[in-house]
Amino acid sequence: MQLLLDSADEKQVKFWAGQGVIDGVTTNPSVLRRDGVINPMEALASLASLVSPGVLHAEVTEASGHELVRQGIELAALAANVAVKVPILTPDGEPCLGEISELSRAGVVVNTTACLSFGQVALAAKAGAKYLSILVGRIDDEGGDGAAVIRDVRNWLDDWGFDAKIIAASVRGPADVRRSMAAGAHCVTVPPPVLAKLVDHKYSRHTVGEFLADARATQQA
Ligand code: E4P
Repeated sequence: MQLLLDSADEKQVKFWAGQGVIDGVTTNPSVLRRDGVINPMEALASLASLVSPGVLHAEVTEASGHELVRQGIELAALAANVAVKVPILTPDGEPCLGEISELSRAGVVVNTTACLSFGQVALAAKAGAKYLSILVGRIDDEGGDGAAVIRDVRNWLDDWGFDAKIIAASVRGPADVRRSMAAGAHCVTVPPPVLAKLVDHKYSRHTVGEFLADARATQQA
Protein backbone atom coordinates (compact mmCIF):
# COMPACT_ATOMS: atom_id res chain seq x y z
CA MET A 1 0.00 0.00 0.00
CA GLN A 2 1.58 3.27 -1.11
CA LEU A 3 0.91 6.71 0.29
CA LEU A 4 1.66 9.55 -2.13
CA LEU A 5 1.77 13.30 -1.53
CA ASP A 6 -0.43 15.34 -3.90
CA SER A 7 1.80 18.41 -3.95
CA ALA A 8 4.55 20.32 -5.73
CA ASP A 9 5.60 22.13 -2.57
CA GLU A 10 9.20 21.03 -1.87
CA LYS A 11 8.95 22.05 1.77
CA GLN A 12 5.96 19.73 2.25
CA VAL A 13 7.63 16.92 0.28
CA LYS A 14 10.77 17.17 2.43
CA PHE A 15 8.73 17.30 5.63
CA TRP A 16 6.56 14.24 4.87
CA ALA A 17 9.49 12.29 3.39
CA GLY A 18 11.30 12.99 6.66
CA GLN A 19 8.34 11.52 8.55
CA GLY A 20 8.96 8.30 6.60
CA VAL A 21 5.39 7.93 5.35
CA ILE A 22 5.38 8.87 1.65
CA ASP A 23 6.31 6.61 -1.23
CA GLY A 24 6.04 9.18 -4.01
CA VAL A 25 4.54 12.44 -5.20
CA THR A 26 1.72 13.26 -7.62
CA THR A 27 1.30 16.56 -9.45
CA ASN A 28 -0.98 18.00 -12.10
CA PRO A 29 -1.02 21.42 -13.79
CA SER A 30 -3.43 22.80 -11.16
CA VAL A 31 -1.23 21.54 -8.30
CA LEU A 32 1.84 23.17 -9.92
CA ARG A 33 -0.08 26.44 -10.24
CA ARG A 34 -1.44 26.24 -6.68
CA ASP A 35 2.06 25.66 -5.30
CA GLY A 36 3.55 28.63 -7.19
CA VAL A 37 5.68 26.73 -9.71
CA ILE A 38 7.07 29.05 -12.40
CA ASN A 39 9.29 26.67 -14.39
CA PRO A 40 7.44 23.30 -14.50
CA MET A 41 10.22 21.19 -16.07
CA GLU A 42 12.80 22.45 -13.59
CA ALA A 43 10.41 21.95 -10.65
CA LEU A 44 9.46 18.43 -11.77
CA ALA A 45 13.14 17.42 -12.18
CA SER A 46 13.86 18.70 -8.69
CA LEU A 47 10.82 16.89 -7.19
CA ALA A 48 11.86 13.66 -8.94
CA SER A 49 15.27 13.83 -7.32
CA LEU A 50 13.76 14.72 -3.91
CA VAL A 51 11.35 11.79 -3.92
CA SER A 52 13.72 9.18 -5.42
CA PRO A 53 13.60 6.14 -5.23
CA GLY A 54 9.86 6.82 -5.01
CA VAL A 55 7.94 7.79 -8.13
CA LEU A 56 7.15 11.34 -9.25
CA HIS A 57 3.92 11.51 -11.29
CA ALA A 58 4.13 14.40 -13.82
CA GLU A 59 1.23 15.29 -16.13
CA VAL A 60 1.27 16.21 -19.83
CA THR A 61 -0.22 19.55 -20.81
CA GLU A 62 -0.71 18.80 -24.52
CA ALA A 63 -4.28 17.66 -25.13
CA SER A 64 -3.67 14.84 -27.62
CA GLY A 65 -1.78 13.39 -30.59
CA HIS A 66 1.92 13.53 -31.47
CA GLU A 67 2.43 16.60 -29.27
CA LEU A 68 1.16 14.69 -26.23
CA VAL A 69 3.34 11.66 -27.01
CA ARG A 70 6.41 13.84 -27.59
CA GLN A 71 5.82 15.67 -24.31
CA GLY A 72 5.25 12.38 -22.46
CA ILE A 73 8.62 11.11 -23.67
CA GLU A 74 10.24 14.40 -22.63
CA LEU A 75 8.75 14.16 -19.13
CA ALA A 76 9.82 10.51 -18.78
CA ALA A 77 13.37 11.53 -19.75
CA LEU A 78 13.57 13.90 -16.75
CA ALA A 79 14.47 10.98 -14.46
CA ALA A 80 14.16 7.20 -14.22
CA ASN A 81 11.55 7.52 -11.45
CA VAL A 82 9.03 9.63 -13.43
CA ALA A 83 5.60 8.26 -14.34
CA VAL A 84 3.73 10.26 -16.96
CA LYS A 85 0.13 11.22 -16.28
CA VAL A 86 -2.10 11.20 -19.35
CA PRO A 87 -5.80 12.14 -19.06
CA ILE A 88 -8.23 9.47 -20.24
CA LEU A 89 -9.73 11.86 -22.79
CA THR A 90 -9.61 15.39 -24.21
CA PRO A 91 -12.02 18.17 -23.19
CA ASP A 92 -13.94 17.31 -26.40
CA GLY A 93 -14.33 13.66 -25.36
CA GLU A 94 -11.75 12.17 -27.74
CA PRO A 95 -10.10 9.15 -26.04
CA CYS A 96 -6.36 9.40 -25.34
CA LEU A 97 -6.08 5.59 -25.36
CA GLY A 98 -3.91 5.60 -28.53
CA GLU A 99 -1.46 7.98 -26.90
CA ILE A 100 -1.46 5.90 -23.66
CA SER A 101 -0.81 2.78 -25.69
CA GLU A 102 1.97 4.37 -27.78
CA LEU A 103 3.76 5.75 -24.73
CA SER A 104 3.43 2.44 -22.86
CA ARG A 105 4.84 0.51 -25.83
CA ALA A 106 7.75 2.99 -25.91
CA GLY A 107 8.55 1.96 -22.30
CA VAL A 108 7.09 5.01 -20.56
CA VAL A 109 5.31 4.27 -17.25
CA VAL A 110 1.86 5.80 -17.82
CA ASN A 111 -0.56 6.94 -15.14
CA THR A 112 -4.00 7.48 -16.69
CA THR A 113 -5.70 10.32 -14.89
CA ALA A 114 -9.11 12.03 -14.72
CA CYS A 115 -10.81 8.62 -14.54
CA LEU A 116 -14.32 8.84 -13.08
CA SER A 117 -15.89 5.52 -14.14
CA PHE A 118 -15.17 1.80 -14.25
CA GLY A 119 -15.19 1.79 -18.07
CA GLN A 120 -12.55 4.48 -18.34
CA VAL A 121 -10.24 2.67 -15.94
CA ALA A 122 -10.72 -0.71 -17.63
CA LEU A 123 -9.84 0.76 -21.03
CA ALA A 124 -6.80 2.57 -19.62
CA ALA A 125 -5.51 -0.72 -18.18
CA LYS A 126 -6.14 -2.46 -21.52
CA ALA A 127 -4.16 0.31 -23.28
CA GLY A 128 -1.16 -0.43 -21.05
CA ALA A 129 -1.33 2.15 -18.25
CA LYS A 130 0.56 1.02 -15.14
CA TYR A 131 -1.20 3.43 -12.78
CA LEU A 132 -4.93 4.20 -12.84
CA SER A 133 -5.91 7.43 -11.09
CA ILE A 134 -9.51 7.29 -9.88
CA LEU A 135 -10.63 10.75 -8.73
CA VAL A 136 -12.85 9.72 -5.84
CA GLY A 137 -13.68 13.25 -4.67
CA ARG A 138 -14.85 14.28 -8.13
CA ILE A 139 -16.91 11.07 -8.50
CA ASP A 140 -18.58 11.77 -5.15
CA ASP A 141 -19.17 15.45 -6.12
CA GLU A 142 -21.33 14.26 -9.01
CA GLY A 143 -23.41 11.94 -6.84
CA GLY A 144 -21.37 8.82 -7.59
CA ASP A 145 -19.52 6.49 -5.21
CA GLY A 146 -15.77 6.73 -5.68
CA ALA A 147 -15.04 3.90 -3.24
CA ALA A 148 -17.41 1.57 -5.11
CA VAL A 149 -15.56 2.29 -8.38
CA ILE A 150 -12.25 1.45 -6.67
CA ARG A 151 -13.68 -1.82 -5.31
CA ASP A 152 -15.05 -2.90 -8.71
CA VAL A 153 -11.82 -2.02 -10.51
CA ARG A 154 -9.67 -3.80 -7.91
CA ASN A 155 -11.73 -6.99 -8.23
CA TRP A 156 -11.54 -6.84 -12.02
CA LEU A 157 -7.76 -6.20 -12.08
CA ASP A 158 -7.16 -9.12 -9.68
CA ASP A 159 -9.54 -11.49 -11.50
CA TRP A 160 -7.73 -10.96 -14.81
CA GLY A 161 -4.16 -10.63 -13.51
CA PHE A 162 -3.45 -7.03 -14.55
CA ASP A 163 -0.39 -5.57 -12.83
CA ALA A 164 -1.68 -1.97 -13.02
CA LYS A 165 -2.05 -0.11 -9.71
CA ILE A 166 -5.05 1.95 -8.62
CA ILE A 167 -4.28 5.43 -7.26
CA ALA A 168 -7.14 6.91 -5.26
CA ALA A 169 -6.92 10.65 -5.99
CA SER A 170 -8.96 13.81 -5.46
CA VAL A 171 -9.02 12.98 -1.77
CA ARG A 172 -10.82 15.64 0.29
CA GLY A 173 -10.46 14.36 3.83
CA PRO A 174 -9.40 11.51 6.16
CA ALA A 175 -12.67 9.63 5.48
CA ASP A 176 -11.82 9.46 1.75
CA VAL A 177 -8.42 7.97 2.66
CA ARG A 178 -10.00 5.31 4.87
CA ARG A 179 -12.71 4.43 2.32
CA SER A 180 -10.19 4.24 -0.54
CA MET A 181 -7.80 2.02 1.43
CA ALA A 182 -10.65 -0.26 2.54
CA ALA A 183 -11.91 -0.50 -1.04
CA GLY A 184 -8.57 -1.88 -2.24
CA ALA A 185 -6.65 1.07 -3.71
CA HIS A 186 -2.97 0.14 -4.15
CA CYS A 187 -2.01 3.79 -3.59
CA VAL A 188 -3.73 6.85 -2.15
CA THR A 189 -2.51 10.33 -2.99
CA VAL A 190 -3.18 12.85 -0.26
CA PRO A 191 -2.81 16.67 -0.20
CA PRO A 192 -0.62 17.95 2.68
CA PRO A 193 -3.50 19.42 4.75
CA VAL A 194 -5.32 16.06 4.69
CA LEU A 195 -2.15 14.19 5.66
CA ALA A 196 -1.74 16.60 8.59
CA LYS A 197 -5.36 15.90 9.65
CA LEU A 198 -4.71 12.13 9.49
CA VAL A 199 -2.09 12.31 12.21
CA ASP A 200 -3.69 14.95 14.41
CA HIS A 201 -6.24 14.42 17.19
CA LYS A 202 -7.16 16.93 19.89
CA TYR A 203 -7.43 14.22 22.55
CA SER A 204 -4.07 12.67 21.58
CA ARG A 205 -2.49 16.08 22.15
CA HIS A 206 -4.21 16.27 25.54
CA THR A 207 -3.16 12.70 26.42
CA VAL A 208 0.49 13.30 25.54
CA GLY A 209 0.38 16.57 27.48
CA GLU A 210 -0.83 14.67 30.54
CA PHE A 211 1.91 12.01 30.21
CA LEU A 212 4.62 14.67 29.94
CA ALA A 213 3.25 16.68 32.88
CA ASP A 214 3.16 13.53 35.05
CA ALA A 215 6.71 12.63 33.99
CA ARG A 216 7.92 16.08 35.03
CA ALA A 217 6.02 15.86 38.35
CA THR A 218 7.55 12.42 39.05
CA GLN A 219 11.07 13.73 38.36
CA GLN A 220 10.53 16.62 40.79
CA ALA A 221 9.11 14.39 43.56
C1 E4P B 1 -3.80 13.53 -8.46
O1 E4P B 1 -3.17 12.73 -9.11
C2 E4P B 1 -4.99 14.25 -8.98
O2 E4P B 1 -4.65 14.99 -10.11
C3 E4P B 1 -5.56 15.13 -7.88
O3 E4P B 1 -5.69 14.36 -6.70
C4 E4P B 1 -6.87 15.79 -8.26
O4 E4P B 1 -7.39 16.43 -7.13
P1 E4P B 1 -8.66 17.41 -7.18
O5 E4P B 1 -9.83 16.67 -7.70
O6 E4P B 1 -8.82 17.85 -5.76
O7 E4P B 1 -8.29 18.55 -8.09
